[in-house]
Amino acid sequence: MIKVFRLGYVHFQTQNMERMLEYYTDVLGLTVTQQDSQTAYVSTSIDHHNIILEQSSESGVVGFGLQLVPEMSVAEAASELERMGLNGNVKTDPMPGVSELVEFKDIDGYTVQLFGEMELAAEGFKKTGVAPNKVGHLSLRVQDAKKSVEFYKQFGFTNTDWIEDFFGFMTCNRDHHVLNFATSDRKEMHHMALELRDYSHLIQSMDTLGRNGIRILWGPSRHGAGHNIATYHRDPDGNMIELFTDADIYVPELDMFEPRPWHENYPQKPRVWETEECMTRWGTAFEQSLV
Ligand SMILES: [Fe+2]
Repeated sequence: MIKVFRLGYVHFQTQNMERMLEYYTDVLGLTVTQQDSQTAYVSTSIDHHNIILEQSSESGVVGFGLQLVPEMSVAEAASELERMGLNGNVKTDPMPGVSELVEFKDIDGYTVQLFGEMELAAEGFKKTGVAPNKVGHLSLRVQDAKKSVEFYKQFGFTNTDWIEDFFGFMTCNRDHHVLNFATSDRKEMHHMALELRDYSHLIQSMDTLGRNGIRILWGPSRHGAGHNIATYHRDPDGNMIELFTDADIYVPELDMFEPRPWHENYPQKPRVWETEECMTRWGTAFEQSLV
């Protein structure tokens, strides 16, 4: 079975590279490690890149890169894809920072790249802008979240929670979720989430957004599934961006989350949430539908 252990990067197309770069560097405080006429590679701290911005006639997410566990080579992953009936395309030197990967389309047509190693290129965290810890998770709109959850189990992901039967959460490590899937009639990103260090960092991030004229759509509030404290806003292309902290830590050996004082159950195990109880544990009103 293919096994991955983290979300390496998210790939966006953009019609307005200049404004997107300004947002991702000046506002979010990320670092451009490499750039050519079409593409910018952006890092949160030390990876060559965690976000790829590609100039295009369209905007939105194209796909994402998942890093294979060290025990599995790209060639082995390619063989497994073939065994699974998926058409994997091995690429050598496909992009700066990654020497080899195997690419395929998932059941919704998102481009998934499985890579083994990535160069370390950026020098750490910026002292300006939001400067998040990392890209924490990617949430995608899909035709059928149940099918997507089953599909990604084949890559070493575990289903951690559900909102009813239309929003499935999955992890490939100890973070509550790394990917999640929302059943939708549209194929597009639901949101990308950046992890912050603590509550004070979350407040500082809202000051940073405010100074830059970016409005918060909703939050801060503590979610049910994952128990992360989150706010949401949009980047210049309209992609929804979540800033969060304090998400649940999954303990796969025990199929439970590390206990926290705000948990509803002891032990807190993967479960199905109702939409209203999941959106906010604090009753914070929100005007925009996030599901
Ligand atoms: Fe999220």
